[in-house]
Amino acid sequence: MEDCPELKLIRQTEICKNCTNIVFGKGNENADILFVGEAPGKNEDEQGIPFVGAAGKNLDKLLEKVGLSLQDIYVTNILKCRPPLNRDPLPDEVKMHTPYLVKQIKEMKPKVICSLGNHATKFFLALGDLEKINSQQGITSVHGKVKEINFYGMEIKLIPLFHPAAIIYNRNLLGEWEKDMEIVKKEVRETKEQRKLF
Ligand code: URA
Repeated sequence: MEDCPELKLIRQTEICKNCTNIVFGKGNENADILFVGEAPGKNEDEQGIPFVGAAGKNLDKLLEKVGLSLQDIYVTNILKCRPPLNRDPLPDEVKMHTPYLVKQIKEMKPKVICSLGNHATKFFLALGDLEKINSQQGITSVHGKVKEINFYGMEIKLIPLFHPAAIIYNRNLLGEWEKDMEIVKKEVRETKEQRKLF
């Protein structure tokens, strides 16, 4: 099957030419909640599945604690290919990889997006406008705060969360994550109830 234009853009990047697998996502594509991380790491690159390494195992554990599973959510990343040595995404990579993310979001139509860590959070706070990414607030000041955004015409509740990898290294963030997840669950419950009304 021929690649869609958004996938062709991904294939043009050096990180794509050098990766083992393009990592698209995992979970339930019909779920109301989308989790968006930064980029695949070594394990994700090898297996072609996001969040399967240490950060992913922590994410599984953190989700289980609040009663969420891959049946309830879909998980993807800003970049679909692993940057060498897991360095930060380059602006040009974000530019070439995020049209595919936008396409995924338009198809999935999530009610809630949980952005994991600084890169994903700033992308959504900037509403996908790459010129505005750097001027956005960081995760420490916005985590757990629900922000209603209009993302490409879709009304979505954005809930920034600490990246699960950060929680491995800084256990003080665990309590914050648990409080933030209660907010996620409340928003999802409300969304489901609203759906029943209409
Ligand atoms: N970190 C991420 O942001 N995404 C992954 O898929 C794995 C680790």
